[in-house]
Amino acid sequence: MKAKVKKSEEFHLNKPLAHVAFIMDGNGRWAKQRLLPRHMGHREGCFRITDISNACQEFGIKAMSLYAFSTENWKRPKDEIDFLFSYIDEFFKREIDHMMRDGVRVLISGDISRLPEKSQATIAKAVEMTKNNDRFYFNICLNYGGRPEIVRAAKLFAQDVVDGKKTIDQLDEKGFTQYLYTAILPEVDLLIRTSGEQRTSNFLPWQLAYSEFVFTPTYWPDFTRAEFIKCLEEFETRQRRFGGLKNE
Ligand code: IPE
Ligand code: IPE
Ligand code: MG
Repeated sequence: MKAKVKKSEEFHLNKPLAHVAFIMDGNGRWAKQRLLPRHMGHREGCFRITDISNACQEFGIKAMSLYAFSTENWKRPKDEIDFLFSYIDEFFKREIDHMMRDGVRVLISGDISRLPEKSQATIAKAVEMTKNNDRFYFNICLNYGGRPEIVRAAKLFAQDVVDGKKTIDQLDEKGFTQYLYTAILPEVDLLIRTSGEQRTSNFLPWQLAYSEFVFTPTYWPDFTRAEFIKCLEEFETRQRRFGGLKNE
């Protein structure tokens, strides 16, 4: 994806940042502002994913997590959901060659078995094709909920105990993270939520324990590379103490 980027503005991160998570919110309001159907916001939002993924790679960030569809989003009208998954499908078809070229590994968080079969096939193909890449991790959260993720992890651990592979004494924080979807990813340093809402909406409750949060009023389809840089500059002003007294 990187080669397409025109560098309008040079930016160098001067704080360690391995993993940035995004709650891509405001697609519907972006469309409404333009008197368009809500799904047009999702369509435009998928193009921003490409831009922001390119920017992350350019800035030397190792991983991104994207909240694309929550376990609660099934409450929405079926046609909006169908459009959204069709745009995600198109996104992977459009980007897969670039991802391979750039060494991007696609990871999925969430239970995709409830998605339309066509989307499941496209996503499974992207995961399989990119599984040996490790330059950048692109973690897309689909039918994802943080509480279901923790319950799932607890069940997987319990099953390992039943199967005699683990004992209860072996369960500690580090071990537990191995049962989460994000097992191979670095800690989330920064969470960005667009659209002005200031809540996490069931996104990565375990992983965000010590992340910095940046909220921007910008709707996701307007979240350009320049908007992203503003958030990174805000992140750079933060003092991360992790419970201690000194700066990192
Ligand atoms: C975020 O945009 C995308 C998804 C939740 C799938 P929304 O669709 O929530 O947009 P708003 O919040 O209604 O504007
Ligand atoms: C969170 O946005 C989910 C995604 C961005 C995929 P929502 O728009 O669904 O969240 P709420 O309803 O405002 O909390
Ligand atoms: Mg929303």
